[in-house]
Amino acid sequence: MADASGSGFEAEPLKGGEAEGGVSKKKSCTEKLGFSHLTGWRTAAFLFSLFLCLAVVFAFSFILPCPVRPQYFSTWNRTLPDAATYDFLAVEDANEDKVLDVLFIYKDSEASRNTCLSEDLSIPCLVLTAVDGTDGKMLWERPLAAEFDWVECGVKGLGRQGTGCLVAHADNLTAIDKKTGVIRWQQSRSSVLNGNLPLISIQDLNADKADDFAILSYNPEAPSFTPIPSELVFFSGKSGDQIGSKANVDWNGVFGHQQFKTASGAPYLLLLTKSGLYAVSLRHLTELAGLESALKEEKSWKEKSDKTGLISLYQSDSLKRVMVVPGSSSPSLLVQTDSSVSLLHTDKLKIAWSTNTSTLLSVPTFGQFDKDGIPDIMIEEDIGNKTKRVLVLSGSSGVVLWEVHLLFWTPSPRPASVLTLNTYSVFMLWGQSQSRGNQTNEMHSSFLLHPRYSQLLLERRNPAQNIISFKATLLERGRHAGYLVLTGPDGRQHADLGETEPVILTKRKIKEDVPESAVLRVGADESAVEEAEVKEAFYRLRFSETQ
Ligand SMILES: *[C@@H]1O[C@H](CO)[C@@H](O)[C@H](O)[C@H]1NC(C)=O
Ligand SMILES: *[C@@H]1O[C@H](CO)[C@@H](O)[C@H](O)[C@H]1NC(C)=O
Ligand SMILES: *[C@@H]1O[C@H](CO)[C@@H](O)[C@H](O)[C@H]1NC(C)=O
Ligand SMILES: *[C@@H]1O[C@H](CO)[C@@H](O)[C@H](O)[C@H]1NC(C)=O
Ligand SMILES: *[C@@H]1O[C@H](CO)[C@@H](O)[C@H](O)[C@H]1NC(C)=O
Repeated sequence: MADASGSGFEAEPLKGGEAEGGVSKKKSCTEKLGFSHLTGWRTAAFLFSLFLCLAVVFAFSFILPCPVRPQYFSTWNRTLPDAATYDFLAVEDANEDKVLDVLFIYKDSEASRNTCLSEDLSIPCLVLTAVDGTDGKMLWERPLAAEFDWVECGVKGLGRQGTGCLVAHADNLTAIDKKTGVIRWQQSRSSVLNGNLPLISIQDLNADKADDFAILSYNPEAPSFTPIPSELVFFSGKSGDQIGSKANVDWNGVFGHQQFKTASGAPYLLLLTKSGLYAVSLRHLTELAGLESALKEEKSWKEKSDKTGLISLYQSDSLKRVMVVPGSSSPSLLVQTDSSVSLLHTDKLKIAWSTNTSTLLSVPTFGQFDKDGIPDIMIEEDIGNKTKRVLVLSGSSGVVLWEVHLLFWTPSPRPASVLTLNTYSVFMLWGQSQSRGNQTNEMHSSFLLHPRYSQLLLERRNPAQNIISFKATLLERGRHAGYLVLTGPDGRQHADLGETEPVILTKRKIKEDVPESAVLRVGADESAVEEAEVKEAFYRLRFSETQ
């Protein structure tokens, strides 16, 4: 009994156990089933992820090309015999390889090149061309009817992807795609035959999702025949059609204009006149053309405007040029007169500083020389006897931070600067050291200035003759600081055919000039900076993304 009971008891638990076991067996079976499902899944997942990993590895190593940086030649040139060229160089990424390409325009008189004839144009014709920034190879050429008037690239709204080039030539305005060189549109420019640069770029006015632009015409008028602006015409960026009516402007004494945006983003047109600097809002101008626009206006400026919409910003009877100081949060203007350069703060309309100068040879150049983060200004004064005084003025106070005397020839290319990661810029300028002045061979030198070693200039005897255009720039984000020199006969002076000198566009990497340079000591400072130390400093330079 006991046994039985025991067994019974034992059996019970056994039974129970068995039952339990059965249950647990069932359970474990189902568990096992689930488990085996799970292991199956796990294995599948494992294999799948392994496969995925391998696929990714494989894809990245073989199928998807790694984002290789384009290789570039440190020096290249593009040479065109029998041509003439114009003071124009633009850098744009035409082939989308993240390296900027170079656009320039030349007049082609060489029939055998067949460029003009391919488009049924008579010889000579104009050719706008883009060459690859990495190696100087031609990307596209766009033959156009001569004569050339002006060109601007980077014009918003012209191409499908934003920007394009606009050429004023013969009777037409021609919009050209920067990637393909294809003509986007071509329109008669009879309404703005005397239209002059700079182009006035403006946000979409005709609701076609492309930015539009306006051209200001300077018509020579009796009795003085000095061109004065007489009309402003708005054009659709997308189609080139005129939008609105011609805005008749009566701006006596205006000889130049410049586009400007206030700190709050209100677009204005600055007008340079014989009595000083004025501004007029683009909104007012669109209203003159009978166009609706939602353009902003600056309240404090609007209060100052007279009944014709003009706002007096600065009085001067010898205004020469106005430039917008780059990269400042509250926009300032550099105002140049016959005998001074001044900095005008546009928020309070106050002159921050003014420095006397003699006649300037070239357009002022901005760059960081001292450590205060405010752009400084390099200017070139003509001091007679073929000599120029090159100065760097402090952007915050106008005081002279640096100077050198050099010989010059005309045309004298404007200096250039490239910003480095160390928050200073390197400057590049042209001329000839006075100690070489007696040499008969009038060879230009290019000079490199490192602001931290400003007792020295690196001088490279540069074979470039007849420099028509010069530009120093970063051809790639954050690297590849190079300069472009366009030499050859000047298309505006050589109207005749049969040029003997070729047009040559040369690109050089800035650092490439360093080993070939000699040292020129500046001023009387005989401090013991070694040539090797300065060259080393140039090699170490890292360039910044923003100009
Ligand atoms: C242009 O480059 C070629 C080699 O690429 C060179 O032989 C020639 O001298 C260069 N021409 C100029 C004017 O620099
Ligand atoms: C001007 O543009 C029109 C329209 O595209 C064209 O027919 C004409 O040939 C062009 N004229 C010149 C000189 O390019
Ligand atoms: C600048 O020129 C003005 C007028 O010619 C003169 O009054 C002023 O003293 C000059 N300033 C300096 C610092 O030479
Ligand atoms: C220019 O040179 C002449 C002689 O060559 C000299 O008499 C004159 O003083 C010089 N002028 C200047 C401003 O240096
Ligand atoms: C240039 O030549 C003149 C005379 O020919 C001489 O007096 C002068 O010292 C020379 N200048 C230099 C820098 O060699």
